[in-house]
Amino acid sequence: MSTSFDLVLFFDNLLIETACKLDEFSDSFHPQTRSADERFGDFQANGVLPYAKKAGKNPRELAQKLLESLPPCNDWAVELAGPGFINFSLSPDFLLRWTMDHGSEENLTRAVQSESPSKVVVDYSSPNTAKQMHVGHIRSTIIGESIARILAFQGNKILRDNHLGDWGTQFGILLLAIKEQNISLDNLGDDPIAKLENLYRAGNARVKEEETALHQARKELVKLQEGDPENLSLWEKIRDISMSSFQNIYDLLDVRFDHSLGESFYRDKVEEVYNGLSKHQICQEDDGALVVFHPEHKRFAKQPFIIRKSDGASNYATTDLATLGYRQKEWEAEQIIYVTDGRQRDHFEQLFLTAKKWYAAEEESLPTLNHVWFGTILGEDNKAIKTRDGQPIKLIDLLEEAMKRAAEMVRQKNADLSENEVNHRAHIIGLGAVKYADLSQDRTLDYVFSWKKMLAMQGNTAPYLQYAVARIKSIFRKMENDPKGSFPAARPPESDPERKLSRKLIFFPLALKQATRELKPHFLCTYLYELATEFSSFYNQEKVMVDDPATRDLRLLLCSSTQSFLITGLGLLGIDTLDEM
Ligand code: ARG
Repeated sequence: MSTSFDLVLFFDNLLIETACKLDEFSDSFHPQTRSADERFGDFQANGVLPYAKKAGKNPRELAQKLLESLPPCNDWAVELAGPGFINFSLSPDFLLRWTMDHGSEENLTRAVQSESPSKVVVDYSSPNTAKQMHVGHIRSTIIGESIARILAFQGNKILRDNHLGDWGTQFGILLLAIKEQNISLDNLGDDPIAKLENLYRAGNARVKEEETALHQARKELVKLQEGDPENLSLWEKIRDISMSSFQNIYDLLDVRFDHSLGESFYRDKVEEVYNGLSKHQICQEDDGALVVFHPEHKRFAKQPFIIRKSDGASNYATTDLATLGYRQKEWEAEQIIYVTDGRQRDHFEQLFLTAKKWYAAEEESLPTLNHVWFGTILGEDNKAIKTRDGQPIKLIDLLEEAMKRAAEMVRQKNADLSENEVNHRAHIIGLGAVKYADLSQDRTLDYVFSWKKMLAMQGNTAPYLQYAVARIKSIFRKMENDPKGSFPAARPPESDPERKLSRKLIFFPLALKQATRELKPHFLCTYLYELATEFSSFYNQEKVMVDDPATRDLRLLLCSSTQSFLITGLGLLGIDTLDEM
């Protein structure tokens, strides 16, 4: 008999099926199986208690009845505990079988495929053109990429869309500065994006001081928006320069988008938004602007969602409404995930409320909308991270420093590696460390950026996990054995370390499920860290290369499954591994 991949689901179903046959239970019984504290077994069903309370029955008696009615099975022992919990302890045979069934990458991949895959747009990274990417954009890029990978892994169809901010008021100022200083965009030197950013900064300072300059900048913007050929061509060049600077970062981070439809793409689609919302009386005129209020909402009853400014211009809200419509109609998106800073929570809440009303009025089905928001990266002083002179840190500088620091680490450990190999390893270790530091805590929290912590070989870090993988690879290398092989002679786990590691492996599906449900990759990180720790204690206590083939095969199977779970899991975080470290 083959084993179920997701054992929580399996026990839930088993209990529901059993309860269905009993008079004491109704449809409203939910077993609520979860992984159990090790002292109490492997899984625990907690649902009898709340059910009995509601039904006014004795929970222990109910649980006892349910337990006695379970079909007899040698694969686990079952026990009544506390006021009405049902505990399952898996047999060694079952643990072995589960690992054999799911321990390889192919089997794992097959097991996670969703029965009802959906089409999901992930809107992430999304920097503004004419500016460099700053550390604030790193979170969106890293978290968005990981979520895209986690969903794709389960068979969903993912469209990665980089929703560039390429149509904002910044262009008026920039165009003015370019023209006044007679700058040629064709030769801006080695760091054209930095040059553009400086131009913008200088221009911005000027429009703040001089009324006439502000006026002129507005005029340049209007000309651009009306399709003036000169301004359009400058704007296109600015976009190209920006894109190629972003591309350097995406290449480093191994991030590829299916689309980079920025705000500008929707500029001729905003009329539809005004018309649609007006037709259904979802918006109203307010001081010359077109706005949406949500009377049912505490704050948004008074705080307007402005969809057309009083000067007639569209804005962030308008393009986002148009974008949503486009993704739903043209791409048939069933879900849209937006990954941005927590400061945009109001914007997305208002956007979602507005879209809901619009779609209801049109009798169209609205895709599931999720705002995946995150906190701020702090410096060691606990304030938003900045350079020494108070400027935002450029993302490219940060990534380069990560690789430089990792290269030092690699050289210290292996003095005689070729420069090529040092760089290869430094790339994987340095960027892995930055990504993991970002992904490993709940994304809604701020976190302190610390080189020392993220590059540490001990603790919940990428280097620690990468090292665990390299260590397992070296076991197989030394034995000239194939980690992807099958280990047919394996006996069931017996010793404490064997059992503990097998037990940890079966929780992979739970971690993946939780990360998917809450769109929070840190659940996966925590699991991988615990798995690596469990492996380490197994490996410190048990010899793998033993004579007895049954013991050797079991231990090799555990090594190989741990390796494939770690590599797969890290891959879902966008993190590579090495053969040697
Ligand atoms: N460009 C925006 C920023 O840098 C993020 C855009 C996010 N996506 C969206 N559809 N609003 O903050």
